[in-house]
Amino acid sequence: MKAFQLLLPAWAELWVAGMCESCLTSGVDSASDCLLDAADRLLDRFRDRCGSVEASRYGVPPSEVLALLGAGVLVDVDVIIESGTAAGVSTETLARFLHGTGTKVYSIDRGGYQELIPVAAKRLQPFNVTLIHGDSHLELPRLVLRHPGRSIGIFVDGPKGESALCLCWKAFVLSRDVKFCGIHDVAPYWHYGISELLEAWGRTLLLSYQPRWRSAFAALDTESGHDFGGQHAEAKRQLGYGLGLVAGFGLLPLGVSGDNQMDRLCRE
Ligand SMILES: C[S@@+](CC[C@H](N)C(=O)[O-])C[C@H]1O[C@@H](n2cnc3c(N)ncnc32)[C@H](O)[C@@H]1O
Repeated sequence: MKAFQLLLPAWAELWVAGMCESCLTSGVDSASDCLLDAADRLLDRFRDRCGSVEASRYGVPPSEVLALLGAGVLVDVDVIIESGTAAGVSTETLARFLHGTGTKVYSIDRGGYQELIPVAAKRLQPFNVTLIHGDSHLELPRLVLRHPGRSIGIFVDGPKGESALCLCWKAFVLSRDVKFCGIHDVAPYWHYGISELLEAWGRTLLLSYQPRWRSAFAALDTESGHDFGGQHAEAKRQLGYGLGLVAGFGLLPLGVSGDNQMDRLCRE
């Protein structure tokens, strides 16, 4: 029995029938319903296990990590690879939730904030997390290839914008084992300029800044005391920072609308 089946035995029959992955592949509306449903089922465990994670303005708010975990459940993920550890807020949230399930978490950072490296190492020490110092453009493909045949989820919180999109795209091209990629800071008020691309791409499963996700789960961010301060504070409170979840070729084969554009963008 795989990791998430231990968590939610009631869903095991659906997994065996392959229904969970398939509910992510029948169009964006069905995928969002599916993710909302999955996240809702995880909510009690999420509050219980992750409620103690110390919030930070620069960390990923809980409602957005929950979206990643929802996708993880649906594809019964074995390995999560994060790019962008910094102080490790999102890494700790993932790790606390997954503790004891056997799902392995890797987190890569090139050391943009040197002073945060020991902070992250200390907070993540109790968990099944491997921290890697390096550039994800190099390290992430290596990790994907190190886990052939396993179900892999990726989360990119650095780099941002097109560079994040292309990191995901190249991982999809590399291996069908990569089931999904989450890209952070995609809400339209950011200057990274990829929200329109994501809104039009046939691979997009969820945009957490859209009203359904916010109305269902924004309360988690308030409960955690997350500080949506700084520039665009009001927009941040309303929309969050924005997580875009996109499906890999293992879920949706190459050839959906927007793939050609992404291929051109990421070849340049
Ligand atoms: C916003 S912070 C991550 C915050 C973290 N996820 C959290 O919740 O606490 C972004 C991080 O991405 C890292 N980063 C940016 N580009 C990178 C790359 N190409 N490879 C690895 N890390 C990168 C930066 O060094 C920085 O520490």
